[in-house]
Amino acid sequence: MSAEAFDGDSVVKVTDLVAGYIPGVNILNGCSIEARRGELIGIIGPNGAGKSTLLKAMFGLVKVHSGTVVVRGQDLTGLKANKLVSRGVGFVPQNNNVFPSLTIEENLQMGVYQAPRTFRERFDFVAGVFPELAKRRAQRAGSLSGGERQMVAMGRALMMDPAVLLLDEPSAGLSPVKQDEAFLRVHEINRAGVSVIMVEQNARRCLQICDRAYVLDQGRDAYTGTGRELMKDPKVIQLYLGTLAETA
Ligand SMILES: Nc1ncnc2c1ncn2[C@@H]1O[C@H](COP(=O)(O)OP(=O)(O)OP(=O)(O)O)[C@@H](O)[C@H]1O
Ligand SMILES: [Mg+2]
Repeated sequence: MSAEAFDGDSVVKVTDLVAGYIPGVNILNGCSIEARRGELIGIIGPNGAGKSTLLKAMFGLVKVHSGTVVVRGQDLTGLKANKLVSRGVGFVPQNNNVFPSLTIEENLQMGVYQAPRTFRERFDFVAGVFPELAKRRAQRAGSLSGGERQMVAMGRALMMDPAVLLLDEPSAGLSPVKQDEAFLRVHEINRAGVSVIMVEQNARRCLQICDRAYVLDQGRDAYTGTGRELMKDPKVIQLYLGTLAETA
């Protein structure tokens, strides 16, 4: 992409992404999404639609066959994950997202292994969002609950001061109260200036808090709009939210 064409408010722009795990079998079939400065973007859609694959492809973990991933005007398609981290992309996978044998503090240190001198400053920021992590910094991550591990994983991704955070189902496996808490934290991180792209199983809740969302279906962005628009869209309700959504 030429410098002239770069829209300064675009943080991540994914265009016509085609990607998959096995040669000849594409999971993403021309998927396009964008996150602009300060936006909280939701990604919803049925199981197997390719939501996790989209985040992994954006983070260099799944082979991209065609299409582009442009981050702040630079084409970073297919770059390895560690390079993407230093270009401002943070990723929190759904599972296995902490080092269980390391303490909370050591997990956070791993987040800045590329820039260890920034540890103190970034630790203070993360402790502001997740005070309980600072209090329990010496505890092994393997002994934490699912929700607490999720906080460690988000904290670790925030250590590199990302421009955009990719979150794969931050509320999965949590009790309703803990889910609300997870959404609040995501909101807080977003308000602190980090653009967020959040995949969520809890579609209604996701649409309530995001600025804009995309419905993924069979590896494509099938619908997009503001959270409010999608929540009211009869097709989206019928196909993806269920009838209860109308009254939510
Ligand atoms: N490592 C893998 N190797 C081969 N195929 C895979 C792999 N991971 C996922 N797939 C396939 O890719 C498709 C999309 O999976 P993906 O995990 O992206 O869906 P998803 O939308 O995140 O679903 P869910 O809501 O269940 O998390 C599925 O058919 C899945 O079987
Ligand atoms: Mg998934």
